[in-house]
Amino acid sequence: MNPPHGFEMDRIKAEIADSFDEELEMEIDESRLESLLDEMSEHPEQAQLDRRIYFRELFRLQHELVRLQEWVQYKGLKVVVLFEGRDSAGKGGAIKRITQRLNPRVCRVAALPAPSERERTQWYFQRYVAHLPAAGEIVLFDRSWYNRAGVERVMGFCDEGDVEEFFRSVPEFERMLVRSGIVLLKYWFSITDDEQQFRFNMRIHDPLKQWKLSPMDVESRRRWEDYTRAKEAMLEHTHIPEAPWWVVEAVDKKRARLNCIAHLLEQIPYEDVPRAPVVLPDRVRNSDYIRQPV
Ligand code: ADP
Ligand code: AMP
Ligand code: MLT
Repeated sequence: MNPPHGFEMDRIKAEIADSFDEELEMEIDESRLESLLDEMSEHPEQAQLDRRIYFRELFRLQHELVRLQEWVQYKGLKVVVLFEGRDSAGKGGAIKRITQRLNPRVCRVAALPAPSERERTQWYFQRYVAHLPAAGEIVLFDRSWYNRAGVERVMGFCDEGDVEEFFRSVPEFERMLVRSGIVLLKYWFSITDDEQQFRFNMRIHDPLKQWKLSPMDVESRRRWEDYTRAKEAMLEHTHIPEAPWWVVEAVDKKRARLNCIAHLLEQIPYEDVPRAPVVLPDRVRNSDYIRQPV
């Protein structure tokens, strides 16, 4: 590889800063946000305006997600959100920001591994169905039944007959889910060829990210065009009024996360849940903190 310079160097710096920001995100609370933003403006060279906007907006959206979560519990809603896209498109990062401040009993992630021998013999949708939500639950699918139209098709884990059957079934399957009262949202994270190449390179050189680069991913670089065709066929066959696809422009990771969360919040009208103020019993006395060791 040629040594990076100019534009490439800026990109690498931005990528490193983004990993670092993930740490900062968890530090933010009401009292820390303003001082964190102040710190950033004191070091403008490493704290561009968009980073400040990002933190503020992410924090605001995460507050809204908490309100949505309460509404989902209160109304007993069942919510399914699918995250699809090529390897390294940023699905995992967006999912992480959504779950960061939510109750894992309400909002959980389903990231299924390759099917087992036994699962391979089942109805294709069966293992996904097992993860669908009950009332008051949100399930985020990090990849989903759409594996059949993407990785399985392109890598040859299924045959064209299976894919045809899949395209026949999916609209029926998803309409059944929606009629049963599930809110179903489908996001496709879209990146460019060049951006995927860059992200894979970053992963190769980052010991903390190497685990994200599977042999499957490396092969998917070679089959970029096949994936493009598979993606187009998938969107064409499965973009239905009851469950449309939403394409998230994802070359800019931070924007992609904010846009996706904001969009998700717009799809489900929610309100404040009425509740009585919580008053904790006053049991804290000095003697609880300082006493003799007997
Ligand atoms: P990641 O989701 O971390 O990118 P991989 O790149 O290894 O993981 O795999 C991509 C997807 O392909 C995963 O959803 C995985 O379940 C699926 N997959 C991997 N191997 C197989 C297989 N033999 N048959 C069906 N699906 C597979
Ligand atoms: P189409 O159905 O015409 O939109 O085709 C989708 C594309 O996906 C095909 O033209 C192939 O390039 C690719 N594709 C489909 N199945 C496989 C497979 N089993 N192995 C490799 N590439 C595939
Ligand atoms: C994504 O977009 O998928 C996540 O960052 C995980 C991955 O790329 O494999």
